[in-house]
Amino acid sequence: VDSVYRYGVSMNSSPGTAPRHSVLDMSPEEFRRIGHDLIDALGDFLNGLPQRRVTPGETPAQVRSALGAAPLPDRGSDAAESLAHAFQLLDAHSLFNGHPRFWGYVTSSAAPLGALADLLASAMNPNAGAWILSPMATEIEAQSIRWIAEFLGYPTGCGGLLVSGGNMANFVPFLAARRSKAPWDLRKEGMASPNARKLTVYASTEVHTWIHKAADLFGLGRDAIRWIPVDDQYRMRTDELSRAIRDDRAAGLHPFLAVGSAGTVSTGAVDPLREIAAIAREHDLWFHIDGAYGAPAAALPDAGEDLHSLHLADSIAVDPHKWLYAPLEAGCVLVRNPEQLLDAFEYSPAYYRFELDESERPLNYYSYGPQNSRGARAVKIWLILQVAGREGMVRMIGDDIRLAEEAWRAIDAHPRLEALTRGLSIVTFRYRPPDVDVRDPAGAEYVNRVNQIVADRIQAGGEAFVSNAVLKGVFALRLCIVNFRTTLADVRGLPELVDRLGAEVHAELGH
Ligand SMILES: Cc1ncc(COP(=O)(O)O)c(C=O)c1O
Repeated sequence: VDSVYRYGVSMNSSPGTAPRHSVLDMSPEEFRRIGHDLIDALGDFLNGLPQRRVTPGETPAQVRSALGAAPLPDRGSDAAESLAHAFQLLDAHSLFNGHPRFWGYVTSSAAPLGALADLLASAMNPNAGAWILSPMATEIEAQSIRWIAEFLGYPTGCGGLLVSGGNMANFVPFLAARRSKAPWDLRKEGMASPNARKLTVYASTEVHTWIHKAADLFGLGRDAIRWIPVDDQYRMRTDELSRAIRDDRAAGLHPFLAVGSAGTVSTGAVDPLREIAAIAREHDLWFHIDGAYGAPAAALPDAGEDLHSLHLADSIAVDPHKWLYAPLEAGCVLVRNPEQLLDAFEYSPAYYRFELDESERPLNYYSYGPQNSRGARAVKIWLILQVAGREGMVRMIGDDIRLAEEAWRAIDAHPRLEALTRGLSIVTFRYRPPDVDVRDPAGAEYVNRVNQIVADRIQAGGEAFVSNAVLKGVFALRLCIVNFRTTLADVRGLPELVDRLGAEVHAELGH
């Protein structure tokens, strides 16, 4: 204490009157000047995206060498120069998922409005863990949750909160389900209870890998997952689901959670959600929908019966940083009964006094999920939903689906390409060398190899970006359009690119 006091005195000759000059503080003039320069540079960056490569396709060594290996500096540097340097590094050595021809994984083109919202949120920096620390940010988050629920056709009285992304948006309901359905005091005894080994969870073979992590991290172990087979459209087979639950019950196990997908990661398949809901109800299981990718398509009038059944779920994961076009990071949890989140996550330590007056129950988000301090992620989502409106959002999502249909048609019409699957805005396909018989195992393996190399070359080349899926042993190229910048011309150019690279690889391998 003494030395801190002396340090303070030595900084300010007359304590209490002279301003403190901290190295990280900025004068309003400096903040404005540097900020305007950055916004100008970002404006040019966004404007120039379509003319650039999706990625420079560099090696880790090249990127590290551009960054340099300087040790932590002893002396600080100029903020404007350092920020400009950071801009230059990222501008020259990044993959741009905002590029019109980025169609890999499930990563959206982010709305520029989201970037401005993030700046606003971090400049004000409310802590959305507790209401009194973030009065308006908390209310904006609550309203965003209600808007998302409304958009998906989910009851707006639900609970929910924003998290970092799809994995977390599935983990939170997984934990709420485990707490709600475990027939012992889970929060006290934990997974050391002998009953813990009996918990089983049901998901199709197509569910995203978050479920491996959840079963593993939360103490059930991967053996607790029952992998339910899919039909020829990659949808869960509900007869197999019923059978697996009955078999486990008969064996004295405790089935507690059924997971359906609203848009699987590989092919965009939507599980028979109504049927899964009925089976879950019959057997008293929690019904969770992983709609991280596809749930927003439920807002389309012609989305179909299963997407229009999201309201049957106990919980839903949906990712604003996927098909609501928010910048990373933003996932969203919806849980029908808000009490079930409190049941799973609430603690009230003596050092928090976050209660309001007795008439109001405060909305303290730290009690609804695993995070304690939380940023104001909701600002970007609230702004994006407000500015697009339901109509604008539906139009963008619908256009993405129509562009995927167009890609499917163009691929299907091409003599050396084979269209494999189409679901929501995902299309899978492959290059088919004309002189190779894929019914022969060696031929099938060879075609897989060709397509793996084609995928690598597309990804490094920067003309467009697709990722891959493996479908019953077939290596497929995969495009997923969650990108409001993609045009018809972008999509129509893809078959020619794949054909050119396919022919090149086939010639090189000399089959
Ligand atoms: C269906 C589905 N669930 C979960 C996830 C995981 O989301 P995130 O990468 O945001 O954690 C993904 C990612 O693509 C997904 O497609």
